[in-house]
Amino acid sequence: DWNMEDVLNEEIKVIKETVGTDDHVICALSGGVDSTVAATLVHRAIGDRLHCIFVDNGLLRYKEQERVMSTFKEHLHLPVTCVDATEQFLSKMKGVADPETKRKIIGKEFICIFDEFAQELEKKLGKKPVYLVQGTLYPDVIESCPPPGSGRNHSHTIKSHHNVGGLPKDMKLKLIEPLKLLFKDEVRALGKILDIPEGFLKRHPFPGPGLAVRVLGDVTEGNHLEILRQVDEIFIQSIKDAGLYDEIWQAFAVFLGILSVGVQGDQRTHSHVVSLRAVTSQDGMTADWYRFDSEFLDQVSRKITNNVRGVNRVTLDITSKPPSTIEWE
Ligand code: XMP
Repeated sequence: DWNMEDVLNEEIKVIKETVGTDDHVICALSGGVDSTVAATLVHRAIGDRLHCIFVDNGLLRYKEQERVMSTFKEHLHLPVTCVDATEQFLSKMKGVADPETKRKIIGKEFICIFDEFAQELEKKLGKKPVYLVQGTLYPDVIESCPPPGSGRNHSHTIKSHHNVGGLPKDMKLKLIEPLKLLFKDEVRALGKILDIPEGFLKRHPFPGPGLAVRVLGDVTEGNHLEILRQVDEIFIQSIKDAGLYDEIWQAFAVFLGILSVGVQGDQRTHSHVVSLRAVTSQDGMTADWYRFDSEFLDQVSRKITNNVRGVNRVTLDITSKPPSTIEWE
């Protein structure tokens, strides 16, 4: 039970001392809680010598780019460059169905874009940025290197983390990890006193490869991504409207890529099947499927099939982890 005001002031002091008065810092924002809190903290300490990048890889959720950019800019006043790299990512994903290959391509593309951003920044500043901010949390640290004794320990080896596409290893940036002694609930508390909107701080985790691991098979086929975005938005909005969002660790829709026969109006249809997944969990390592009441499920199913063209069947994933994983790919 640390006092978060003290933690905040101490962190700001340490960041100021570390970076000094001339050096520049870069940060990749994922749209998630951790990188946002880390960047906001560093921004408090060194102002616009922080340079953030947000990459739209074309695999984001419904209106995600607009929503997070508006929080970053209008609400948090973070200096962020938004790179719309949809075409670049999707052209590389064409014909790729294997989940791990998808992840690799996305990670590699991300590093290319990040590299380019750092180089352009160097040209603009006339010198290299020196530091990289990462939203590493304490559980990531202990996972890589359990500290001896009971105290929280600063030293750790960097885990090859799959978040935000991993580290550009050969860039020789020094790391700033202002959250590395904190647990998630402490990060949220810190975010709150940094004036980050509460709704943002409670966002469910979202995988770095985004909807690529939620559209099974080739993500570039047809309008699969667009259908998934619409279904997912209806599901999440219904969960929020029912007041259930905060009880759930993660909820999302999955595009299965199979067709089923249906009847809509007086037409026989041969359309897509989607699956809904919601789980409770402490840390994502194990998870239990969430028990919605049947009335809620009935309404969501109707809303989806009535509003999303190309979907005639909604299924519910009732598997826990293990034996399933949270994501389908
Ligand atoms: P699984 O599917 O392995 O997911 O049970 C556990 C947690 O990790 C997230 N996840 C990922 N996050 N890159 C990420 O940044 C990934 O490739 C990735 N795969 C899964 C998943 O959303 C869940 O929170």
